[in-house]
Amino acid sequence: MAVAELSPSYTKTHLHSSQLSFLSTRLASNSRCTFRPLPRTRKAATISCSVAPNQVQAPAAVGAEDPKNKPECFGVFCLTYDLKAEEETKSWKKLINIAVSGAAGMISNHLLFKLASGQVFGPDQPIALKLLGSERSFEALEGVAMELEDSLFPLLREVIISINPYEVFQDVEWALLIGAKPRGPGMERAGLLDINGQIFAEQGKALNAVASRNVKVIVVGNPCNTNALICLKNAPNIPPKNFHALTRLDENRAKCQLALKAGVFYDQVSNATIWGNHSTTQVPDFLNARINGLSVKEVIKDQKWLEEEFTEKVQKRGGVLIKKWGRSSAASTAVSIADAIRSLITPTPEGDWFSSGVYTNGNPYGVAEDIIFSMPCRSKGDGDYELVKDVIFDDYLLKRITKTEAELLAEKRCVAHLTGEGIAFCDLPEDTMLPGEM
Ligand code: LMR
Repeated sequence: MAVAELSPSYTKTHLHSSQLSFLSTRLASNSRCTFRPLPRTRKAATISCSVAPNQVQAPAAVGAEDPKNKPECFGVFCLTYDLKAEEETKSWKKLINIAVSGAAGMISNHLLFKLASGQVFGPDQPIALKLLGSERSFEALEGVAMELEDSLFPLLREVIISINPYEVFQDVEWALLIGAKPRGPGMERAGLLDINGQIFAEQGKALNAVASRNVKVIVVGNPCNTNALICLKNAPNIPPKNFHALTRLDENRAKCQLALKAGVFYDQVSNATIWGNHSTTQVPDFLNARINGLSVKEVIKDQKWLEEEFTEKVQKRGGVLIKKWGRSSAASTAVSIADAIRSLITPTPEGDWFSSGVYTNGNPYGVAEDIIFSMPCRSKGDGDYELVKDVIFDDYLLKRITKTEAELLAEKRCVAHLTGEGIAFCDLPEDTMLPGEM
């Protein structure tokens, strides 16, 4: 899904959004500095730089002549916004820290503004956005931070941009890992698994070292199931249950196709599961899905369409979109990330469920242990989930599940060097492909 580039060499760079101003922008872009505002009650901010003092531009901040005014804010936020915000904050929840990697990419460009506007975590949930980019995308990342600043989102209290995951993941409660390398011309799939796997191994280590112990991690960068597994294996102090690979986009695509065929609006489609890998072996489950509360098979009697056209349409939707757009899906991916988060922080409607790629240990379906596999989940709205037990299987479904499971097991063998399980051995099935590869 994600195509933003990441770089493994890090320097420290922070921006503070609500006060971004020329000061922090210049410091960040010119000199790789850290700008850390102190809590609102304190009257000082710290700026630490890795450049000689004479390289640092003097701040041109509002009220800079009065030392008491200096630290709290800069620019337009101070002038037009703080008083109102102070009133609002009384009913607000405690601020949460959200990390987003690939933050200068297209998916993030849709997602960040949803997060900052309150559409995802709610209108009383202030957030800090911690944005991870690469050396190459750094200027674009500054542009993103500036646009966030210019949007005057009351709930957005802080923005940090950096290319160092150890900085970005500090204390985060959510990590949305979007950035990954796209498969380049002539690159073998094993090569893609290795390059992206290294990124996710590094990020797993960083999360393990500095993130909240209960951080929820949603991996979007492809191949997202195996990247999530690598991340999890490199973060032994974080519960494996907290790692997800995004298959919500596939679920949404499946619901849309079923709705179209049945001639209903898509809100009538429920209980849609995607089983397995976010790849062309994924299994959109029409056996358990429902339309207007009825089994799909009672509404759509065309079994051939379900088994062939529907299944393939969902599996390859990403590729069709790439052909049309000339790039991967971005807006619908961002929407599905928002959906995936909301599904974890709001109670699942009675009788329904949602799909997520989660760790298989202890699963009730007989899927191989120790992989990340998309399965049906329910949540009480506390960020956690349980696997749904009352699903049915038939031969068609089981056969398909076995195929996607085999693909994930092969991907896992391919990245053994990154999961601490010895020497990698890559025997990927021939037809292993991401949804975007045709
Ligand atoms: C998608 O499902 O749209 C993407 O994952 C496609 C891709 O392969 O990047």
